[in-house]
Amino acid sequence: MRFSELALKTRSIRRFKQSVRLKKENILAFVDSARFAPNAANLQLLRFSVVISKNDCEKIFPALKWAGYLEEWTGPENGERPSAYIVINAPEEEKPYTKMDVGIAAAYLVLSAREAGYGSCIIMSFDCGIIAEAVNTPEDYRPQLVIALGVAGEEVILETAHKDIRYWRDELGKHHVPKLRLFEILTKQKHIQEDQNDQF
Ligand SMILES: Cc1cc2nc3c(=O)[nH]c(=O)nc-3n(C[C@H](O)[C@H](O)[C@H](O)COP(=O)(O)O)c2cc1C
Repeated sequence: MRFSELALKTRSIRRFKQSVRLKKENILAFVDSARFAPNAANLQLLRFSVVISKNDCEKIFPALKWAGYLEEWTGPENGERPSAYIVINAPEEEKPYTKMDVGIAAAYLVLSAREAGYGSCIIMSFDCGIIAEAVNTPEDYRPQLVIALGVAGEEVILETAHKDIRYWRDELGKHHVPKLRLFEILTKQKHIQEDQNDQF
């Protein structure tokens, strides 16, 4: 898959085919990709916890908060929950670059998962105590992001954002994600003209 297609197809997935388990080798391959991610001063301070057993997944799930914009939805039902997780841990004593490193590593993880055919969702709203205990986060480290993983059980539709950037679900339950147009995310520069075809 070309990178442009991979980027389009790497959407946040929140409903999975829970019964399809991920193999340890797959998840380790995603972490192996994140190993090569750029990071400040090449310090390589992040530590990754891999969660694959049903039992451990059950410990993680209650700590997560899903889809803030979907107020009526309390998160994936039993049967559509993630079947694996990767927790990104960073040193408790945060530096200005810590969250940047975490974000870049997360991007590598979700792109790598999508390339292998798996859906994912980056989650930053979670109960840190529950996650740290469940994955045994190293001393002096803190969980920064949880990456939920599994085989996608939902369709996500990208659309051009008009006024509202909030994702939403239609009557068939399909998840829609409005994205700004290219011209809207570029700063105003004389040599760049608006392209009217710049839509989905
Ligand atoms: C740093 C970060 C934190 C996020 N935290 C959450 C979260 O706590 N819960 C959740 O359901 N989604 C979370 N998301 C997913 C975003 O809601 C999602 O990326 C956004 O709606 C755009 O959808 P897309 O990923 O399909 O483009 C997070 C994404 C990022 C990058």
